[in-house]
Amino acid sequence: QILILDFGSQYTQLIARRVRELNVYCEIHPYNHIPPISADIKGVILSGSPCSVRDADAPVVHLAAFRHKMPLLGVCYGAQLMAHTSGGEVQPSSIREYGRAKLSTVHVENPLLKDLDVNTQVWMSHGDTITSIPDTFQVIASTETVRVAAFQVTGEETYGIQFHPEVTHSQQGKILLKNFVVDICGCSQNWTSESFVESTIAQLKEKLGDDKVVMGLSGGVDSSVAATLIHRAIGSNLYCIFVDNGVLRKDEFEGVLESYKHLGLNVKGVDVKEQFYTALAGLTDPEAKRKAIGRTFIEVFDHEAHLIEGVSWLGQGTIYPDVIESVSVKGPSATIKSHHNVGGLPDFMKLKVVEPLNTLFKDEVRAVGRTLGIPDNILKRHPFPGPGLAIRILGDITPEKVAILQEVDALFINGLKKYDLYDQVWQAGAMLLPIQSVGVMGDERTYERVVALRAVTSVDGMTADWAHLPYEFLADISNEIINKVKGVNRVVYDISSKPPATIEWE
Ligand code: XMP
Repeated sequence: QILILDFGSQYTQLIARRVRELNVYCEIHPYNHIPPISADIKGVILSGSPCSVRDADAPVVHLAAFRHKMPLLGVCYGAQLMAHTSGGEVQPSSIREYGRAKLSTVHVENPLLKDLDVNTQVWMSHGDTITSIPDTFQVIASTETVRVAAFQVTGEETYGIQFHPEVTHSQQGKILLKNFVVDICGCSQNWTSESFVESTIAQLKEKLGDDKVVMGLSGGVDSSVAATLIHRAIGSNLYCIFVDNGVLRKDEFEGVLESYKHLGLNVKGVDVKEQFYTALAGLTDPEAKRKAIGRTFIEVFDHEAHLIEGVSWLGQGTIYPDVIESVSVKGPSATIKSHHNVGGLPDFMKLKVVEPLNTLFKDEVRAVGRTLGIPDNILKRHPFPGPGLAIRILGDITPEKVAILQEVDALFINGLKKYDLYDQVWQAGAMLLPIQSVGVMGDERTYERVVALRAVTSVDGMTADWAHLPYEFLADISNEIINKVKGVNRVVYDISSKPPATIEWE
């Protein structure tokens, strides 16, 4: 595998993505928490950073720990750090070194640059630049303005590049990374979802033995894939719990339970709608609703887990970005969304945690799911918040309001599928607004509810744009909702992006 040392660059995760796309396993670790260097590690990549090597408190690693032992590639800050600590000079750049540039000279005979074209476009993004390098360094690529665009330390497999090969604007960046990872480090390209499934099941068998595992399922991709993997390893010793909290989508409880049974999972559906409605009664504040749902979920889950004799593990669908965020150089507080994952691990349960997906990115989770034969209706499902429709009904929650919103939501989602739009949006849903408006139906004046439809495009939910759905679709769906859902006489479409709006209304 490849070890990526993170100095806090916005692009570090992208480096890992690209290496994984080459079917080579890699891990990101913060520069100040380097794992023990084992024989598995075939090479090291040093990431970029928002810091400058000239800062008094600049992040540093002792490169001597790696040099001469394994190949080393410094990207941007990583390259500047190599130059700076070996007697070279790094200065603020006098000219702009941000954006597209062309490599006007390329030493294609150098193993790192093999198969690259002269004039290939690369992406630059730095405030500092290497102005001189020690005699032992050799320049192997330049642009018109950046002489030391890439270097090699003579006689060593130590390289530095000031551009970002991981960014797609670096047109041949992937070739460069392949040259490094495969040819120079000698990694084999055998890390695939099939190999992941095989090795993970073997590891889970070894780790869990005859122990019992309990796991809460949500119907979402991550928990479904994690449960299926654990199930392949330990069979009926995995006890899954799927809770109907009364604020799921229409027919979701039955539908998802059915899919799980098809997958062979040992899953218990727990219908505790009333318990949730009681806990939510009269609450209007969004955070109060979230807390009530989180608390009730833990009560239910704890009760159910205690019914399973001798359970010692809790299965979770945690994925790699959550792990990276929680150990990030910037610290967890900078990025983590506090409201996520309602419930979490109740301390008093004292269970050990097993998280088979905690090294995977989201699309890798989907690929593993496909390998495991999980159907698309689970793998391609839009994200859905833990507190469900409770944070899409503005104001207090009643079963009657839930029923109205379930109908509207189902028409909207089915409409998106019918029009082939479902896979083009990242998330979609409807909000029930706490207002009524005047309308006319036949000869009758109506005074009924307003619903807002929301559909967004996004990569990770951190930022999002409102989906530009075709007018024709919006017209049809609005008609259908008003005609079919009693109590609703007006439909509006939310055209706010995040930021400044959020995806959910509460
Ligand atoms: P926002 O509204 O913050 O949502 O833009 C971003 C993503 O997070 C989901 N979300 C939640 N998920 N518990 C969850 O499990 C929550 O309390 C929660 N609030 C928002 C939201 O659906 C979107 O995908």
